[in-house]
Amino acid sequence: MNNNYYTEKTEFYGSTSPRELLKEYGSPLYVYNEKILRQRCREMANLVTYPNFKANFSIKANSNLELLKIVHSEGLYADAMSPGEIYVLLKAGFSPEEIFYVSNNVSEEEMKFAIERGIITSVDSLSQLRQFGRLNPGGKVAIRFNPGIGAGHHEKVVTGGKKTKFGVNPEYIDEVKSILKEYSLKLAGVNQHIGSLFMEPELYIESTKYILDIAEQFEDLDFIDFGGGFGIPYRKQEGQQRLDLAYLGEKLDDIMNKWADKYGKKVFFKTEPGRYIVAECGVILGTVYSVKQNSGICFAGTDIGFNVLIRPAMYDSHHDIEVYKDALTTDEEYKPITVVGNICESGDIIAKDRLLPQLEEGDIIGVMDAGAYGYSMSSNYNNRLRPAEVLIRENGTAVLIRRRDTLEDLLRNYEIK
Ligand code: LLP
Repeated sequence: MNNNYYTEKTEFYGSTSPRELLKEYGSPLYVYNEKILRQRCREMANLVTYPNFKANFSIKANSNLELLKIVHSEGLYADAMSPGEIYVLLKAGFSPEEIFYVSNNVSEEEMKFAIERGIITSVDSLSQLRQFGRLNPGGKVAIRFNPGIGAGHHEKVVTGGKKTKFGVNPEYIDEVKSILKEYSLKLAGVNQHIGSLFMEPELYIESTKYILDIAEQFEDLDFIDFGGGFGIPYRKQEGQQRLDLAYLGEKLDDIMNKWADKYGKKVFFKTEPGRYIVAECGVILGTVYSVKQNSGICFAGTDIGFNVLIRPAMYDSHHDIEVYKDALTTDEEYKPITVVGNICESGDIIAKDRLLPQLEEGDIIGVMDAGAYGYSMSSNYNNRLRPAEVLIRENGTAVLIRRRDTLEDLLRNYEIK
């Protein structure tokens, strides 16, 4: 298969090209495609036909202001995990009613930040429910429950299940009720999140049963939130299939309609997709600066260190890689290459023994599906500058949406310079 088929098929770079983009904005560079972003938003917004349904974009996956504005313009709401995320969402134009604060072990100050802005908050433990009651007696609150099952691509991102820190276990429902009563709180909704990146719909479908059984035990809820975790095919070059959204949507529709009928109220149902919305609209472009053989391994040294994209180093995640050469090479043979970054750790690896067209100094590579948990997890480790972010508009033109860090940025917070 043509190594670059994804960006060619989607006309990812619009009227520009990887080389032109790097020349204009520097290397490495995050590039996003608006058309793909909008398409993914629409798929999630229209997942079901049940009338009271909202997809909340989970902005931890990508909180670029310009992308948030696009997501908002597609009618999605958002969930936030911190005051910082709330602040950015408000700046992007989301109203307080469109934001859901899914808090986890937060201070009074943080909780107040949301309460004062009229943002509905979900708490994650009995102690946090009491804290909420003290701060906002008579208020509306939501509770995150732990459904007892989990899913995910790596142990570190499985959030439901017996051994995770998240959610209130259903065995505490009586205590929940008495705390609600003690502080005259109204339970507006219940939520859960089983984990990140499922490719088979079944576990997600099954997990709805758990939260619905819990929901049934409370009167007059306004919403039930099934959480995120919708996976994307990271191995497109190997022909990996997409998540079957039609099937998932049909099943969820059925579950929502039946449950609402039984409950006697057309409650709102919500989901919290992060990755599904933004992963595939983002690519990181980088440059190959050295190619060498070390003990039989061919290393291609690039400027995409794990300060730029940490997923492969942190979770052993796979990202497809495309290679953009100035001219077609005569040697079309693919060779196993270990693609690494420029950070002083041996774990700074983007791809191990990957079959790629032979790489040479000056070649450009694109790391695919980097729009989710890419920039949002990037850092200044080794005092490296985080890359710029560029958006390819629907008309194919490129615009800068966040500038590259500068050396001055590295000193910004020091009191004495
Ligand atoms: N809702 C809650 C409460 C969450 O904790 C998360 C993700 C989401 C929604 C969105 O999950 P998504 O739809 O994006 O899978 N850094 C990891 C993923 C960590 C996800 C943490 N929570 C990665 O790069 O794979």
